Amino acid sequence: MRIAAIDQGTTSTRVLVAGTDGSLRIAHSLRHAQHFPYPGWVEHDAHELLRNVAACIDAAGDVDAIGIDNQGESCLAWDAVSGEPLSPVIVWQDNRTKDVIERLRAGGAEAVTLARAGLPLDPYFSASKLAWIIDNVPAVRAAQAAGRLRLGTTDAFFLDRLTGRFVTDATTASRTSLMNLETMGWDEELCRLFGVPIDALPEIGPSAGLVIGMAGKTPVTASIVDQQAALYGHGCREAGDAKITFGTGAFALAVTGSRIVRNPEIGLLPTVAWQTPHETVYAVDGGVYDAGSAVEWLGRIGLMNGVDELQTFTDAPAIDRGLVFVPALSGLACPYWDRSAASLWLGMSSDTTRQQMCQSALEGVALATVEVIGAMAREVAVAQNLSIDGGLSRSPYFSQFLADALGRNISTRSFDELTSLGCAALAALAVGTELPAIAKGDVEYRARDVDRQAWRQRFNQAVGHSRGWR
Ligand code: G3P
Repeated sequence: MRIAAIDQGTTSTRVLVAGTDGSLRIAHSLRHAQHFPYPGWVEHDAHELLRNVAACIDAAGDVDAIGIDNQGESCLAWDAVSGEPLSPVIVWQDNRTKDVIERLRAGGAEAVTLARAGLPLDPYFSASKLAWIIDNVPAVRAAQAAGRLRLGTTDAFFLDRLTGRFVTDATTASRTSLMNLETMGWDEELCRLFGVPIDALPEIGPSAGLVIGMAGKTPVTASIVDQQAALYGHGCREAGDAKITFGTGAFALAVTGSRIVRNPEIGLLPTVAWQTPHETVYAVDGGVYDAGSAVEWLGRIGLMNGVDELQTFTDAPAIDRGLVFVPALSGLACPYWDRSAASLWLGMSSDTTRQQMCQSALEGVALATVEVIGAMAREVAVAQNLSIDGGLSRSPYFSQFLADALGRNISTRSFDELTSLGCAALAALAVGTELPAIAKGDVEYRARDVDRQAWRQRFNQAVGHSRGWR
């Protein structure tokens, strides 16, 4: 049997064709445009994303099932009758609703979102983005008045257009701040709070284990957030199993089993890991907004000479020279949740080199991730061996520094399309088959004896300076 997994991520759409014979092949990959109409705004074109998803399905050829994973919180509005998008896709990184969020916070709404959705107030989640679309796009209000409005995350748009079913899955719904984490249904009070009409939202279903709908002659049997797909692809199944994906941002997830971790003090997000007709598994999630995006930025401003330079760092850690970077180009996410923070380097002197600044930027991403895992470890027995993937994990310097800073062993794999692999493995469930397991990590970085407390202290000192700058 052959399964196609479409990974519709923030920067690209790709398709993995996985066979029950163990074969794995990326059949197609397409990048899409990033639109930044105003500072802090990030948009995608819904037509372009759908076109790329369809092209990936075509490129996969004859398969027995399709799974699609999505960007999580990114969302849009479309017309129920024509299927035409009525708004751009407002991407998870987009910050346009920060004033609305501050007003809601001042009114005491965070207690409600924490109690019901399990989430703090932040523009990251879809709720305030969907409300913005209704308030600011006349065509959306016209569609609402005509009873033709559909609102949802990108998965719901793709599934509606590809299969004719208006449906989302529990993992993606858990990122909207509109779903009640216990009942797994849309929460009327949250919808009222944000101003999102509940009747324009899709049905919520399981992520995998049944036929969600038919794309032509092929059943679509999995739909899930990309980070959750990666968690599954890393082979994390038991409480405490954790992975970190270093893509545009860095996203750490740890399985918590049937337990919803509710501790707003530590700044982590309880979320749904996956849901099948037989089980609901929860996870705890902590993101750093800027990881790969910080590296891209270094390239854009001419400080780094391409990603190949990531392979060349061999010097002692820049932080040991007192140089530290805070990756807060889009503000600070977990565990700080502070959009007023701005990026900075501290500790430059006249002998600081360009290369040390790049090295320190990588270290800053690693140290921000250490704070996330530190927060997790307060609530979950996080495994001593962590599995990582994504662009930065291909830098030996980065992976070793991360292992040293965490005091935990890190493993990476030579086949690291783990998001697609997890999505394919979930899609396989409904057609009654299993994909051969990918061996545990095949490259190991063992934690060495370093003064990691001093690193954390210095990093947090710099974080203190980065806050309140915008
Ligand atoms: O929360 C956003 C996250 O799911 C996006 O992941 O891989 O599309 O950058 P990615």
